[in-house]
Formats: sequence, structure tokens, C-alpha cells
Amino acid sequence: MFPLNSWYVAGWDHEIGRKLLAKMICGIKVVLYRKTDGSVAALEDACWHRQLPLSLGTLEGDTVTCGYHGLSFNGDGRCTHMPSQETINPSACVRSFPIVEQHRFVWIWMGEAHLADPSKIPDFHQNENPEWAGDGGTTHLECDYRLLVDNLMDLTHETFVHSSSIGNRAVAEAPFTVSRTEESVIVTRWMIGIDPPPFFKKQLGGECLVDRWQIITFRAPSAVTIDVGVARTGTGAPQGDRSKGVTGFVIHVSTPETERSCHYYWAFLRNYQLSSQKLTTEWRESARSILAEDKTILEAQQKAVDFYGDRDFNPLSIDSGVILARRRIEEMVATERQNVNGYAKPIIPIVAAPTQIGEMAK
Ligand code: FES
Ligand SMILES: [Fe+2]
Repeated sequence: MFPLNSWYVAGWDHEIGRKLLAKMICGIKVVLYRKTDGSVAALEDACWHRQLPLSLGTLEGDTVTCGYHGLSFNGDGRCTHMPSQETINPSACVRSFPIVEQHRFVWIWMGEAHLADPSKIPDFHQNENPEWAGDGGTTHLECDYRLLVDNLMDLTHETFVHSSSIGNRAVAEAPFTVSRTEESVIVTRWMIGIDPPPFFKKQLGGECLVDRWQIITFRAPSAVTIDVGVARTGTGAPQGDRSKGVTGFVIHVSTPETERSCHYYWAFLRNYQLSSQKLTTEWRESARSILAEDKTILEAQQKAVDFYGDRDFNPLSIDSGVILARRRIEEMVATERQNVNGYAKPIIPIVAAPTQIGEMAK
């Protein structure tokens, strides 16, 4: 369901400090902590001796000591002390994982360490760039992370799930285009001369018709950014002049916890009124309540998927971006399996798309 040879967010930078933090990432138990030089260490959360979670032990300096019989491990996972023993068994170590901190997130690589290339980390520079302001949070979802990707690659659900904030009829009815590059799948939707939905009406401070945009960019396996905004209609936003409007940039990235749960990290940024903490708090809390509506839907959908077993999804034309994103994930997983097992097999339970979607997706 998820590739291991990929960077995943292990947490916000502020989450990981001088306390042992246990997390399940891609079905693997990990313990995270900050070393004395400020860098982050990530070890498998199971003692070499008898598998007690190391997160139940203690941290001194850069060393974790197991809370059962006192074996100590350094930040590379190597055992540095065994009680009542002068020589240390050379095989005594726990797995350590490559870590990179970038754009306010701590990224972890769960696969083959020699393939961990930091240049492959998605570019979320808006999350700490002085030309942007905003903040984010984390939501735990009891669902397959791919259901969240599906949700974000088709925003027509805003009309029905988020009608009190960002949804209105135009989102479900407006045409859109789907394109892809080597790295990404992009869904672009422009809504011209529409009434703004409640959230954006408040941002503009008055009644007017607007041109609204949603430009969704997916990078496999789980990063989705959305360039969103509205501008007074007829002021040139579709041609590139957004000066009579407001622009937001939304980061969504999920990390599989298990096959049926994930950690969902999100941030809501803007490029105007940069010094307004009030606006930062309002945007963040608006995002939190909007995403809580998605959580309700996604967890109910996961229960239905579990209940109906191997029943397939039926694609619509609105699913064009979803299908391409799923295909990218499927390719990553298949490539990884092929490299390990010498063969590849498809794993995504989605039926063949109608002809026009299939054509679009080629
Ligand atoms: S289980 Fe950790 S030292 Fe024995
Ligand atoms: Fe949503």
C-alpha cells in the first residue's frame, strides 16, 4: 500500500525534543529524539535484547538506555553498553533511519538507507519563507492514506462536505484540466465570475463576484499542495494578476501509520497581512475545522471499504487526477517490489477507467 523508499514526515520540528517520542510509521515502530547537537535521531523502537520498546527507557546525552536490562544505544543504533559484560557483542544494534529537517518538518526515510536522497523531499518552502505567513497542525486519520490523496485530488467534495466554509456549487460544476510532469500530477480549476464561498467572502471584506482558482499538485506518494484564492472578477487573475485578491497555499502531507491509519500534517499559508497573528490563528483554526469534516467522511469511507471487502470503486470524470495519482503510487510500490522480489504486481483495487479518463490518464 505504501512505498518504503520515500521520504515521509515523521513530525513537526517542534514535536521532537529531548524526550523519547514513539511513533508508528509505515507499520514500523520508531523512537525519535533530539541529540545534544540539535539533530534528530530515529531508531527502531525495539531493544536488541528482548524487544522492549526503547521509548520506555531513558535518554542521557545522545544515548538511549533500555528500561528493562539497561542496554544502551547511541543515535546510530549501535550498542554502547551491556550490563555485567566487558565486551559488547558486535551485532548488538538496532536499526536507525535517515533523517532530514526541512521546511519545519522532520523527514524520515523508511526504506533502503543508501537510496535516501534529500533532493527528493517535496519543496514546502512556503512553510518557513518570510514572504509567507501561516501555521498548521496534525490530524490523525483512521483510514488508508490513499483515501486522503483521493480526497485532495478531487475538490468537488467541497460543495457537499464543506458547504459552510469553502464549498459552493461552482466547485462541483466548474470544468478542470489534468496534466502531469515527470514528478507531479496537476489538477487546475478556474471558476469565473462566481459568488465567493463564506470563507473567502470574509477574506475579501465585502460582497463582489470573484474569479476563484484551485491548482492542486500531487507528488507521490502522499504530498499534495494546493494554490488557492479568489480575486475580484475581471481584474486579471486568470492572466496572472492576483493583486486584487487573496492567495493561499495549503500543504497536505500524510504518513502511513498502518495500512488503515495515517498521520495527516497540514499547513495553511498566505502571502498577505504577513504580520497578523490574528489572521494566522483564524486561518489555522478554520483549516482545522474544515479538515475535521474530511476526517468524518474519510473514516466512514474506510469503514465502508472494510465492510464491503474487495468491492471496487467506480470512477467518474472528476476522478481523473485521482486515477493518475493512484497510478503514481502504484508504480512506486510495484518498482520497489520488483527490485526486491524480481517481479511486480498491481495492488490498487480500482477498476479500469471509462475511455475518456483512460485517454486523459495516458
Ligand atoms: S530488553 Fe532491553 S535490555 Fe533487555
Ligand atoms: Fe475536504
